[in-house]
Amino acid sequence: LCPPICLKGVIMPLQCLTGFHDIYGDKARLFNKAESTAREVFRNFGFEEIKTPILEKKELFARALGSETDVVQKEMYGFLDRSKVSVALRPEGTAGVVRAYLENNFDKTKGLAKFYYMGPMFRSERPQAGRLRQFHQIGAEQLGTDSPYADAETIHCLAVFLERVGVGDYKIKLNNLGTFEERDIYSKAIHQYLMDHHDLLCEDCKSRYRRKNFLRILDCKNEVCRNVIRKGPVISDILTTKSRDYFTQVKMALDGAHIKYNEDPFLIRGLDYYTKTVFEVTHPKLGAQDAVAAGGRYDGLIESFGGPKAGAVGFALGVERLLMCMVGAYCNTPLHENSFFIVALGEAAFREAFKLLSELRQKGVKASMDFSTKSMKSQMRSADKSQSRYAIILGEDELKKKSVVLKDMRDGSQKELSLDNLITTLKVLV
Ligand code: HAM
Repeated sequence: LCPPICLKGVIMPLQCLTGFHDIYGDKARLFNKAESTAREVFRNFGFEEIKTPILEKKELFARALGSETDVVQKEMYGFLDRSKVSVALRPEGTAGVVRAYLENNFDKTKGLAKFYYMGPMFRSERPQAGRLRQFHQIGAEQLGTDSPYADAETIHCLAVFLERVGVGDYKIKLNNLGTFEERDIYSKAIHQYLMDHHDLLCEDCKSRYRRKNFLRILDCKNEVCRNVIRKGPVISDILTTKSRDYFTQVKMALDGAHIKYNEDPFLIRGLDYYTKTVFEVTHPKLGAQDAVAAGGRYDGLIESFGGPKAGAVGFALGVERLLMCMVGAYCNTPLHENSFFIVALGEAAFREAFKLLSELRQKGVKASMDFSTKSMKSQMRSADKSQSRYAIILGEDELKKKSVVLKDMRDGSQKELSLDNLITTLKVLV
C-alpha cells in the first residue's frame, strides 16, 4: 500500500482529478433519463447501439480529426501502453465508429449503417463551466449515405430527442462547408485576407494562423476577431452549384420536417473531417460554452480509412451540458413515488418485515426499510424522508394477528391488511 499523503500530520483527502467529476443524485437521475430517452428516440429513427472501446490507437484520432486540430495537438490523453503501443483515451466517438464500421465489414454487409452510442470522452482542456476533461456524449452516425435527406433526418432526430427531454429553447445553426477542395480554396482566401489583419487577432488566433489553421479563426469567440472575420470572405462565395444545390435540398427537407434553423456562414467545426453540412445546437442556459450538440457530414472519412467512397453524417451532444439545460424539467420528480417503506417493531417483526421486503423486491415492487434503527419514531422519519407513498407498519400486535397496517403517507389514512396474499394486495396499489 502507498502511504497516505500527510500535511502537518493530517491525512490529505483523495480528490478527483481537475476537470473530472462524480455523478450522483439529481444529476445521475437526469443522466439516466437522457440515456433512456435517447435509446427510445434513436431506435425510432432506425439507429442501433454500438459500443466502441474507450482506448484506441492514437493514430486513429490523428488521422480522423486532423493532426493540426486543437484536440489532437493539445487535448488528447495519449500515452505508450505496456507493449509500447501509442494509445489515447477517445476524445470523441465518430472516429471509433468509422473504424468499427470498416473493421466489421459493415460497408459490405450493411451498406448503410445507422449507429448510436453513449459514453465518456476525454479532452485535456482548460476546465470551466460546461467544459470538462472527462465528459459524456450521446451521438448518432449514419455511414454509407450521400443523401441530403440523411442530413435532415439526423438533425430531426436530435431535435425530437431535445424536445422529449424537455429542452425546447434551443437554436440550430447551420452552414455549408462544401467539399474538401472548396474548403481548401476558402481556407486560402481567408489566409490571404488575414495577412493584412493579422495584428488585430487575439493570441490564440495568431497561433492558429502560425499553425496554418486558418478556418478555426472563424470560430473564435473574441469580439475583435469576430469583427475582422465578419468583414472577410464567406464560403458561400466560392461554393459550386452542386454544393449549393445539395445544401438547398437539406434545408428544404428540414423545412418539410418543420425544423427551425438559422444559417451562420461563419460556423466552422473544430474537427477537420467535416464537409458540406455542419450544424451546432446552442442553448441560452449555457454560458460561454453554449453548444449542447454539434455535428455534420464527413464524406471523406470512410475512404481515408481505406474504405469505399461513401458519405456519412452524424452528431454528438454533450450530456453534462444537456443536464444544465434539463435542470428544472425533471428534478422535482419524487425519487420513490409509489413505493413502500416497511417499519417494524421488535426482533420477530423485523425478521418478518425483511422477508416481506425481499419478496416485494423479487416481484419488482419498489420497497425499502431502515435497518439502522429499531425505534418506531425514527423509522417513520426515514419513511417520510424517503418520499415513499405508503408505509407498511408491522409491530408485535400485527404479527400476532398475521396482519400489517398500511399507512397512506399522502393523507395519513390507515387500514389493516392480512399478511396472506399481501403482495398481491399491494401490487394493485402501484
Ligand atoms: P464536438 O463539437 O467536438 O463534436 O463535440 C460535440 C459536443 O460534445 C459539444 O457540442 C459539447 O456539447 C460536448 N463537448 C465537447 N467537448 C466538451 C468538453 N470538454 N466538456 C463538456 N462537453 C464537451 C464531436 O465530438 C463530433 N464527434 C460530433 C460528430 C458526430 N460529428 C459527426 N458525428
